[in-house]
Amino acid sequence: MQLLSNYLKHHNTDLELVELIDTLMIACKEIALQLREGALAGVLGTTEDTNVQGETQKKLDVISNDVLKKVLLDNPLVRGIASEEEDDPVFGNPDGRFLVTFDPLDGSSNIDINVSVGTIFSILEAPKDATEDSVDMFLQSGRKQLAAGYVLYGPSAVLVMSTGQGVNMFTLAHTGDFLLTREQVQIPVQTGEFAINMSNHRFWEEPMRNYIDDLLKGSDGPRGKNYNMRWIASMVAEVHRVLTRGGLFTYPWDSRDPSKPGKLRLMYEGNPMSLLIEQAGGISSTCYGDILDVEPDHIHQRVSVALGSKEEVEALLGYHCEC
Ligand code: AHG
Ligand code: MN
Ligand code: MN
Repeated sequence: MQLLSNYLKHHNTDLELVELIDTLMIACKEIALQLREGALAGVLGTTEDTNVQGETQKKLDVISNDVLKKVLLDNPLVRGIASEEEDDPVFGNPDGRFLVTFDPLDGSSNIDINVSVGTIFSILEAPKDATEDSVDMFLQSGRKQLAAGYVLYGPSAVLVMSTGQGVNMFTLAHTGDFLLTREQVQIPVQTGEFAINMSNHRFWEEPMRNYIDDLLKGSDGPRGKNYNMRWIASMVAEVHRVLTRGGLFTYPWDSRDPSKPGKLRLMYEGNPMSLLIEQAGGISSTCYGDILDVEPDHIHQRVSVALGSKEEVEALLGYHCEC
């Protein structure tokens, strides 16, 4: 089995990018250790604080953010970072080549019930002409990502990543190394499984309601087959299931707060997951266009997400088109 860095080097990955990914994994291993200790280390539960999104921060949201921030900013390759748990980007070496955006702990409502969570990351190149530190340098579409991925902290810790040459999975061994365990993942094009938070049904747009209602009709409805449903409330775990055995995952726009274009965040949830899904042969859409083509205008901007098995996402998109 191949070590992460050896695998990347053998596939001609830019050596500075390999070094940055190794740095990221130092932080993720530390997060995995803290999660494993759980109540023994006193890291469960909630802080008194809220983040810029107005969400209560779990202790482990803050711990994970601090670990990633420190480890990344210690690496001179890093020009700046942007995190779900930081109001504004934080800048490192002015000559650093890379920008990293991350969701330090995704699905953190699951921490206290000991269900899977993850870290999501996206790596961009700092524009060469950006002499001043500014949030603007982060505002690049997902197509510009050099690499992206997540570490799922489940029964095993698994890194799933892409540098634009397919999707590979690496499992954290007891030696502390990430070892290649699945190469060139491809999502089955068809599926009978969907994931959506059904409690928001009455707030969705009509096309989404019509699509889900048709899935629920099963073999008696227009789709002509029975579907199964999952909802883990952890995007990392949902995307991992989709990459592993196919499926459709969506967190669509809803009218609870019409000013927000969705719940999930483009720069550190939507974009990195969309790169993985497209690289694995699936589709990742806002329901009106590819997520990777969205031009961001805010570091914490939200986006409607529908991703997964090609033919199932195409069916959903069919409900949204005017034709
Ligand atoms: P985070 O824990 O980083 O705030 O993200 C949680 C996200 C995502 O992982 C999940 O799909 C969704 O929120 C769950 O939302 P509901 O609580 O509405 O089910
Ligand atoms: Mn998240
Ligand atoms: Mn989070």
